[in-house]
Amino acid sequence: MASLSSASAYEQLGRRLRENPARWLVTGCAGFIGSHLVETLLKLNQTVVGLDNFATGHQRNLDEVRALVWPDQWLNFNFIEADIRSPEACREACQGVDYVLHQAALGSVPRSLADPLATNAANIDGFLNMLVAARDAKVRRFVYAASSSTYGDHPDLPKVEQTIGRPLSPYAVTKLVNELYAEVFARCYGFATIGLRYFNVFGARQDPDGAYAAVIPRWTKAMLLGEDVLINGDGETSRDFCFVANAVQANLLAASTENPDAANQVYNVALNDRTSLNRLFEMLRDTLVVTQPELSDLKPLHGEFRSGDVRHSQADISKAKRLLNYAPAHSLEDGIRVAMPWYIAHFTAPKASGA
Ligand SMILES: NC(=O)c1ccc[n+]([C@@H]2O[C@H](COP(=O)([O-])OP(=O)(O)OC[C@H]3O[C@@H](n4cnc5c(N)ncnc54)[C@H](O)[C@@H]3O)[C@@H](O)[C@H]2O)c1
Repeated sequence: MASLSSASAYEQLGRRLRENPARWLVTGCAGFIGSHLVETLLKLNQTVVGLDNFATGHQRNLDEVRALVWPDQWLNFNFIEADIRSPEACREACQGVDYVLHQAALGSVPRSLADPLATNAANIDGFLNMLVAARDAKVRRFVYAASSSTYGDHPDLPKVEQTIGRPLSPYAVTKLVNELYAEVFARCYGFATIGLRYFNVFGARQDPDGAYAAVIPRWTKAMLLGEDVLINGDGETSRDFCFVANAVQANLLAASTENPDAANQVYNVALNDRTSLNRLFEMLRDTLVVTQPELSDLKPLHGEFRSGDVRHSQADISKAKRLLNYAPAHSLEDGIRVAMPWYIAHFTAPKASGA
């Protein structure tokens, strides 16, 4: 029998989930990726428990999800304001849960360089609390946010899951330790996990503010407000930017796969594409120029390279395609086009009244 095309595998999964709703726990639900997972699951009529302590997430993200789903779908959402550094909170959240999508962590390489203790506490202590709670609650699958930072100083491109280098930051150490714990829990307790190594995810609701903001929302906001755009280094640093809908797809496929070879693995989640920061700047500017013609001559400023950053990043995604039927539906251009109206609506300063 011909195997299913990947796009239809994801569509079929959606239909299956609607017919047999499950109970999901999304940690980090008030954050960027977590709020998209909650939105997609509620739209599929799933029951969702969300846990967050608002360390970097926002109530406004949950409010936005509420506005995007039907009122009866929102009734299927139960929010727990709690901290994954508390084993009790993790235990309570896991009760009766079928699938855990663990996103809660302190992101950002520079944040971890400034405060490695805080990153360690959330990303390693908190991760282990969640892993123990999920194992004890006998959840069917624990899917967790791993990171492309795990490739560290290994020079090969594209990045293949089994070949990693030495970590370049405390953040990268925490994400590597997550993978080691997950592997050991499979070996020692037979507990099924899947790690998703995200590569520079972007989209609506990603925070543009603060010292640790990601590049796409930060630059787009600066462009919209007429502020300088600063590129760290010469701009030839490159990344495999991944629209958030692709990351959501990978989570749902990973949670529900029944392929025995797919469990207890880590997967790259991106596009197998590479875009320099200089090119990214042009893409964002050229998308905005349609509505903001005054940006047509905008040029970036260049600053120092940032310590802890890898020079190039690109994901080989053949493993996720083969074992999970992952089929990213959005290119970088397409993702920017979909996200831009949200950026414009949220990042443009309100016009002064009476002006
Ligand atoms: N966005 C990316 O490009 C990217 C890339 C690689 C990995 N990741 C990983 O994906 C996950 C989600 O990232 P994001 O971009 O949505 O970040 P985010 O900061 O928007 O979301 C993280 C959420 O976790 C919550 N959180 C943090 N510490 C917590 C704690 N101790 N207890 C409870 N909640 C806590 C935050 O309040 C926030 O809502 C993280 O694990 C991150 O490391 C993200």
